[in-house]
Amino acid sequence: MQVDVVLGLQWGDEGKGKVVDVLAGAYPVVARFQGGPNAGHTLYYQGQKVVLHQVPSGIFHEGVYCLIGDGVVLDPEVLWREVEGLRALGIQAEERLVVSQRAHLILPVHRWLEEVSAEGEKIGTTRRGIGPAYADRYARRGIPVAWIDRPDFVQQVEALTRYHAARFGAEPPPFSQAFWAGIDLLRRLLRVEVFAWLSQFEVVLAEGSQGTMLDVFAGTYPYVTSSHTTVAGVLAGLAVPPQVIRQVYGVTKAYATRVGEGPFPTEIHGQLAQWLQERGGERGSTTGRLRRCGWLDLVALRYAVRLNGVTHLALTKADVLCGLPEVRVRVGGPDDNPTYAHLKGWTSLQDPAFEAFLAFLEAELGVPVWGLSTGPGREEWLLRSALRA
Ligand code: IMP
Repeated sequence: MQVDVVLGLQWGDEGKGKVVDVLAGAYPVVARFQGGPNAGHTLYYQGQKVVLHQVPSGIFHEGVYCLIGDGVVLDPEVLWREVEGLRALGIQAEERLVVSQRAHLILPVHRWLEEVSAEGEKIGTTRRGIGPAYADRYARRGIPVAWIDRPDFVQQVEALTRYHAARFGAEPPPFSQAFWAGIDLLRRLLRVEVFAWLSQFEVVLAEGSQGTMLDVFAGTYPYVTSSHTTVAGVLAGLAVPPQVIRQVYGVTKAYATRVGEGPFPTEIHGQLAQWLQERGGERGSTTGRLRRCGWLDLVALRYAVRLNGVTHLALTKADVLCGLPEVRVRVGGPDDNPTYAHLKGWTSLQDPAFEAFLAFLEAELGVPVWGLSTGPGREEWLLRSALRA
């Protein structure tokens, strides 16, 4: 078996969903290896904008299994709503969704914890219960998906809820109908031991969420998410050995964005930032927050490329920068005093100045640009070889 990986090289929102969508048709399985509904993968299906939080982005391809892997934290309520939403679009997700018995559940109390404790606010989390669910997982009081078959499952869920409520001396949050509908859905879905189930396939596409700079170890701690967003997360999150990793598609925007708090050395303020937010639609797909915008940071990108062993670069949103007279790229300097290369802007992706920008990136990063997103639509995608021709 071999695994190709799509992951983000920045702070998330690079456009991974689109790249997965471009590639997915060639794989029998698309598998998410980490994160939870903090992710928001935006795709355009039959002209409609669809944002997936919990279901892998391969779901729009007939015949492709979508696996929620060991490393994921899964909110049953979100999963249920998404499956229902997909049904309304004519997609029977239940037939192709496969869930790891080792993924952990996000309970209503995990979301509630982010409301009552100030911790998440400092980081600017998505408030989807991600941090608390992973904290319980590592504190060994979490609830794996497999436990929904246990006769005392409901008591366990209630006990964990009471445990957290007692810490805050508050009434525990109620369980919604949707939560139990989600548990029923999970009982109907194919649930597997990932190690054994994946071994029947020759090739798998691993879908990352968030980005390298939000990895809990490798990112800008403490302003990070709670999982391994890097290639290391694939091994643990899908129970595969390192030798199977084949291609690593690293996705980056032609500029940079960040939602939530934390260092952002190339951040732009003022009119240009607003222009980018508007032109690029830079608003969080999970929380609706405006994204902070900045220039491409090659110091961070070089780190992300090396850390993940990136073999192919996918560049998104270069079209957003069309018309700028000059495009800057951070090439060095300390975080508090970055130095920039000033490159000529481009008017279209056929403009020689854009070719020069690509050549500059490839030389700086030592990895070829493989593909380019040319707009938000599903078909707005070019291979670099096509651009050259
Ligand atoms: P959490 O993952 O909700 O705990 O949030 C931790 C940090 O990661 C915050 O700064 C979030 O804004 C950021 N984050 C989490 N998920 C995403 C994502 O999908 N895109 C961009 N940022 C994210």
